Amino acid sequence: MTPNHLKTYYENILTSIQDGIIVVSNDYAITTFNPAIEEMSGISSSQAIGKSLEAVFPGEARILELTGKTINNGITYSDSDFQIMRKWDRKIFPISLIISPFSDKEGNIAGAVLVLRDMTRTKELEENLRKADRLASLGTLAAGMAHEIKNPLGGLRGAAQLLREEINNVKYIEYLNVIIREVDRVNSIVENLLHLGSPKQLKLKPVNIHKVLEDILLLEKISLNERNIHVIQIYDPSIPFVTIDEGQINQVFLNIIRNAIEAMPDGGKLTLITKIFYDYIVIKENSRREANMILIEIKDTGMGFHDDVLPHLFTPFFSTKSKGTGLGLAISHKIIVEEHKGRIKIDNRADGKGGMVQVFLPVAP
Ligand SMILES: Nc1ncnc2c1ncn2[C@@H]1O[C@H](COP(=O)(O)OP(=O)(O)O)[C@@H](O)[C@H]1O
Ligand SMILES: [Mg+2]
Repeated sequence: MTPNHLKTYYENILTSIQDGIIVVSNDYAITTFNPAIEEMSGISSSQAIGKSLEAVFPGEARILELTGKTINNGITYSDSDFQIMRKWDRKIFPISLIISPFSDKEGNIAGAVLVLRDMTRTKELEENLRKADRLASLGTLAAGMAHEIKNPLGGLRGAAQLLREEINNVKYIEYLNVIIREVDRVNSIVENLLHLGSPKQLKLKPVNIHKVLEDILLLEKISLNERNIHVIQIYDPSIPFVTIDEGQINQVFLNIIRNAIEAMPDGGKLTLITKIFYDYIVIKENSRREANMILIEIKDTGMGFHDDVLPHLFTPFFSTKSKGTGLGLAISHKIIVEEHKGRIKIDNRADGKGGMVQVFLPVAP
């Protein structure tokens, strides 16, 4: 290879590496600054190359310190719990950093290579895993109890029904109706609980998510009208079908939309947005961005989430409502995260005017 070819060859390699790479000479001048680190730092390579590391990262004491140590001692240093802030939008990237020395022909330290790995997604996955673990053990316990409760409930209902047929006194019949109704209510809670424990066989098929949302809006039409809730739909017509268990996903959006309705007793706006979500972005030039998730956003203009409740939303039985079961979001989490390998994020709207739930679903599971 000619020197020029060799240069292009190494440049292409650096461009395709997803980790941020910075090379500094032993006087701390930057000689290499690859596209991944441009993306993370918000600094372009032309702004960085030739400058000193300190001039480009003035606030990053830890990077400067470890690079100094590497160049002085010739030892590799790493720090897995580290972050850098992108210049233009102040976005924080959790980063794992490895700094290694390299030598010249004589064996003297010629500089250091800094490898910065974006840990955003890994951190998120770890957090989800912890949450899922906790929910799984709670779910098993709850499902075990549910099983024990279901049988006596059946007996109770049967006996009340027999009694209702034997009795002529209208007043007592009314009491028995109450018993039967309440037993049915407990029974439906218990069935939800069973769902939380046992993994169900998914009935996967390609589904148009807009149809799922439309079905639910139709079902909830009366309560939406009664409460004077205005529905806004912003659908991306180009989103592909998703391979899901329609019945399960229907239940998820029913839970979320009912919560939104319940959060707006005096009316408001319910906004449904669908879009394609780019789960990872290939930085390399002339390679397309991968679109492998769809995002469904449900926003309301209700009371929003109090900071205290946010960490508990997916815990079974956590409810702030006098008649709530606290199972809606726990079950939704299980269906989305465990059964469909998607994600669910809950927070207040950016403008602070209510709650927002984001559901991410992989196009193919
Ligand atoms: N859109 C929303 N706005 C405000 N709070 C909400 C919203 N959705 C859910 N919540 C809160 O999350 C809790 C748990 O919701 P969920 O699991 O559906 O149980 P439930 O609706 O039976 O209370 C609710 O009690 C409520 O405090
Ligand atoms: Mg609910």
